[in-house]
Amino acid sequence: MSLTLCNVHFTQQPEKIVWFSRSLYKLLSLNGRRSINVKLGRDVVPAKVRTVNRKGNHVFLSAGLRRSIRIPKSGNVYIANADSEEVQLGPLIGILTDSSAQSAESPFGSRTSFIKQLLQLGQKKAYFFAFTPRDINWQNETVHGWFLDGGGGWARRVVPLPDVVYNRLPSRRAEVGSAMTALRERFVRRKIPFFNWSFFNKSDVYTLLDKDPDGLRHLPESVNNPTSEKIKELLEKHHFLYYKPTGGSLGNGIYRLTYHPNRGYFARYRRNGTNVLLRFTKFSSLMKMLRARHGSHLSGYVVQQGIRLIEIDNCPIDFRFHMHKDGSNNWVVAGIGAKKAGRGSVTTHIKNGGSLMTPETALGRAFGDRASEVLSEAKQVAIRLSEAIERNYSHTLGELGLDIGIDRDGDVWMFEANAKPGRSIFKHPALKAQGRASLEYILDHCLYLSKFRRKDESS
Ligand SMILES: Nc1ncnc2c1ncn2[C@@H]1O[C@H](COP(=O)(O)OP(=O)(O)O)[C@@H](O)[C@H]1O
Ligand SMILES: [Mg+2]
Repeated sequence: MSLTLCNVHFTQQPEKIVWFSRSLYKLLSLNGRRSINVKLGRDVVPAKVRTVNRKGNHVFLSAGLRRSIRIPKSGNVYIANADSEEVQLGPLIGILTDSSAQSAESPFGSRTSFIKQLLQLGQKKAYFFAFTPRDINWQNETVHGWFLDGGGGWARRVVPLPDVVYNRLPSRRAEVGSAMTALRERFVRRKIPFFNWSFFNKSDVYTLLDKDPDGLRHLPESVNNPTSEKIKELLEKHHFLYYKPTGGSLGNGIYRLTYHPNRGYFARYRRNGTNVLLRFTKFSSLMKMLRARHGSHLSGYVVQQGIRLIEIDNCPIDFRFHMHKDGSNNWVVAGIGAKKAGRGSVTTHIKNGGSLMTPETALGRAFGDRASEVLSEAKQVAIRLSEAIERNYSHTLGELGLDIGIDRDGDVWMFEANAKPGRSIFKHPALKAQGRASLEYILDHCLYLSKFRRKDESS
C-alpha cells in the first residue's frame, strides 16, 4: 500500500470526477485507469479518473463527487491505495465526547480547549473532528461532526462514519448505561477501531492483573468487597491500608487505615473539605464508623495494602504516569507529574492541597544521586504495567493514566489505572512539551489504527 500526503482541491463539475497530478497518478500506479472507487471513512463512491498537469501531489474533486462522498474540506490529507480499484482519503478521525454545559463557542464545555488543541494539531494530516453520541445518524451511517473552521470557530459537516474513534466521553455514569454499550458495539460491529472502551473501576484493574505475574508484582495486595474479618486480618498483617470506592475518583471516599498494636486503630479521611483523623480502641468501632458513613453493606469498596511512599517535608509524594500507544503501537511514557500531598491529606490530589512538581525535583530530593536510576526503572515498570493491562483486557486501549507510588526502597507500585486520564499535570510549566507530545501520540496512534500508517510510507 502506498501512503502519501496530498493536497485536495474542489472544482465545480456536477459529474463524479477525480483528477490526479501526474506524479501522484504515477505514485498510486493508476496507469490506464478510467474509473476508480474513492473512499472516505466507511463510504465508497465510484468516479472517473483524469490527470492534470501540476507539480506535486494534488487531487481535484468535482462538486458531484465531493458531495456524494462528503469530503469535509480542502487542503492536506493522506491518500492511500489499498488496491488498484480504490483510493482512500483520510484518515477520518472522530473524538467522541459530550458536555452538559454546552454553548456555541464551547460545544464541549470545559473540554473544549483540549479538543481544539487536538484538532488543530491533526488538521494538516487528517480529517479530524469531534462529535457527541447525539451527532450520529446510524440509519444513514453519518456523523454531524464539529470541525475547526480555521478562524478559531466551529464548522459543522456531515461526514461518513470515521476510520477510528478516540473515546473521551466524560462521565463514568453515562458510560455504564445500555445506550452507551450499544453505541460502542455498533462501532465495533462495523470494525471501526474504538479506544478507549470505557472508564476503569479499580477492582476491574486489580482483577485483570490478578493472574499476570508481571503486573501483580507492582500491585499492593488488594481485596475487592472485603468482609470486616478480611479488613482486620489485613490490618494485622500490614498495619496500614487504603480503603477506596472502586468506582471513585479525585480521592473521594478514601480512607487511610492504620493499626498500632498498643494504641489502636486510626482512620484518616476528608470530610467537608477538611482532613479528619479518628482513633478507635476497638476494631468494631472503626467498622461501625465506616458502616455509618457508607451503609451496612459497604459494597463497591476495595481494601489495599498501604505503601510507605517517599516523602518531602513529611508529605508523601506519588506520580501520574501519562501513557500512550504510539504510531507503531508501542506503549510510551508521554509525561510524568510528581504530586506532593497536602499536609494531613490522605491523597495527593491538588484539590486537597497537593502540589505538582517534576519527577526530577521530587526524586532528587528523595534519592539524591540515585534519582535518575529510580526514574528510569519506574518508566520501565509503567510500560510493563500498561502492556500487562492491555494483554488482559478485551478491548482496544491507547491511553492510560497510571497512579504510581515509589517506596523508600525505590520499589514501584501502582494504585490505579485511569482509562480517561485528566491532563492537569501538563499545566506545570516544565511539562508543557510533554503535554504537546501527548497530543502527538494520540494523533499518531489514530493514524496507526486507521491503517494510514506512517511506517507503510516506505513500503
Ligand atoms: N495502597 C496505597 N498506598 C499508599 N497510598 C495510596 C494507596 N492507594 C491510594 N493511595 C494514595 O491515594 C491517592 C488516590 O488513590 P487512587 O487509588 O488513585 O484513587 P482516586 O481514584 O481517588 O484517584 C493516590 O494517588 C495515592 O496518593
Ligand atoms: Mg487516582
